[in-house]
Amino acid sequence: MAEIIDGKALSAALKEDIAVEAKKFEDTYGRKVGLAVVKVGNNPASEVYVRNKIIACEKVGVRSFSHNLPEDENEADLLALIDALNADPEVDGILVQLPLPAHINEKKVLARIRPEKDADGFHVMNAGGLMLGLPCTKPCTPAGIIELIKSTGAKIAGKNAVVIGRSNIVGKPCAMLLLAENATVTICHSRTADLKSHTRNADILVAAVGIKEFVTGDMIKPGAIVIDVGMNRADGKLYGDVNFPEAEKVAGYITPVPGGVGPMTVTMLLKNTVEAAFRCKESKEN
Ligand code: GUN
Repeated sequence: MAEIIDGKALSAALKEDIAVEAKKFEDTYGRKVGLAVVKVGNNPASEVYVRNKIIACEKVGVRSFSHNLPEDENEADLLALIDALNADPEVDGILVQLPLPAHINEKKVLARIRPEKDADGFHVMNAGGLMLGLPCTKPCTPAGIIELIKSTGAKIAGKNAVVIGRSNIVGKPCAMLLLAENATVTICHSRTADLKSHTRNADILVAAVGIKEFVTGDMIKPGAIVIDVGMNRADGKLYGDVNFPEAEKVAGYITPVPGGVGPMTVTMLLKNTVEAAFRCKESKEN
């Protein structure tokens, strides 16, 4: 039976370190680290994610600035809010919860955030930095996935890593981070032929497809590390992208849903924000 990778426990341990850093910032600079959380509309999943992010901020001593905008908010006003947050000296990190309503150009909005305040690592400057191996803010879910894998004690270098999914938020940056750890990386997606032939070869398998229980036991290499990024709501319950009862019989390590990747995403957001706060102050002092 697979060992469970406990994302909640790992996240709690990391949050203790982040709280120490946040306190150090407050003691040094006389104010709390600040994160602006922008939500547009009433997407039910976004409501939950945003609430969790705000609660997590309080827990580590980061001040959150909530901006809940209506579904019909116009793009120009949203861009003006981002300009104001970019200029606000109390705001160290900015997060715009995705997805945005269809009438708003998501790329334009993300590009407007100052890269130094981009707590999610979604700005093209940060995405490009990740691609080129330059210092940059890393997207939270992929960064959390790397921490979860490392927490097993397994070495990533030289391993076959397969990522199912090619989104800008998870699949692509996750593949880049695994490559930076010297894994041999394959990105699979909806057009991949004979998916199982790839996944059966994966020492590390990351499932980020958004389809309930898509990865079945027969797709998994015995002993593999399986990371389940899925958050699929059905009949009032949360399901991952991995069929957990089947997978835990084959895998060596597996993340549960909930309690695996989810808590790590929020924790890495806090880490990014506190790091951004220090970077900004330290660069100004030089
Ligand atoms: N929507 C789904 N995941 C994320 C995330 O990590 N950050 C933001 N801003 N929006 C999301």
